[in-house]
Amino acid sequence: MKTYVVGNWKMNFTVGEASIYLHKIQRKLPNYRDVAVIVAPPMIALQSLSLQVDVHKLKLAAQNGFYRDYGAYAGETSFSQMVGLVDYAIIGSGERRYVFGEDDKVIARKVSAALRNKITPILCVGETESERAYGETADVLRDQVLSGLRDVSKEDINKVMIVYEPIWAISSEESSKLASIDEVTDAVKFIRNVLKESFDEGDDVPVLYGGSVNPSNAGAYLTIPGVNGVLVGGSSLILSEFLDIIEIAKRVQR
Ligand code: PGA
Repeated sequence: MKTYVVGNWKMNFTVGEASIYLHKIQRKLPNYRDVAVIVAPPMIALQSLSLQVDVHKLKLAAQNGFYRDYGAYAGETSFSQMVGLVDYAIIGSGERRYVFGEDDKVIARKVSAALRNKITPILCVGETESERAYGETADVLRDQVLSGLRDVSKEDINKVMIVYEPIWAISSEESSKLASIDEVTDAVKFIRNVLKESFDEGDDVPVLYGGSVNPSNAGAYLTIPGVNGVLVGGSSLILSEFLDIIEIAKRVQR
């Protein structure tokens, strides 16, 4: 399986800055066949970047999308409107769940809508600090995986990606902590077991880790058994760091 490096720019960069970043990364990035690089720019930049992107080097993702294809939903953008602009969509990221209050039902509908439009959903799951403290991590992960994939058939399960993204480890969180290798190992193993129990074929689903990944810890996270890549927030905004993480992914590729 490929190793995935996903950069989530969140609400950073103007359209011009995003274009300059893409230009620079495409100039410097080797054409690796076994490392898939994906960047998720702000929605407003997707259209112009889609004309600039060299799809042999990297692919574009949306950070969100709405589950209806069209209609009176002011301010939203549907996955059907993104067809041709992106190959992937991050769904249910920590910010969508906890800042914007998206629940598992909404997230499940978004996963289906992305699949319906042939966009690969990158479903994020992860417990909060207090859920971990109360020993609820396994229950939360099971609930979020099963409800997020509620409408996904066994045939389609290999068309989704999952990110284990513990909310307490996201770098922008006030009391952010680094997740230990053991914590990520256990969570990813658990997610894979849930996939296997429910879909038989979970082995081909890429499972990534996200939470304060940077060049100094990426190698350790990427060598965890069952981890097929990383989702990088803050560190992906610094081109040299993001390129370093991609190099590390190439080195540890199994
Ligand atoms: P971070 O973001 O790398 O800045 O912690 C990752 C995430 O939101 O999952």
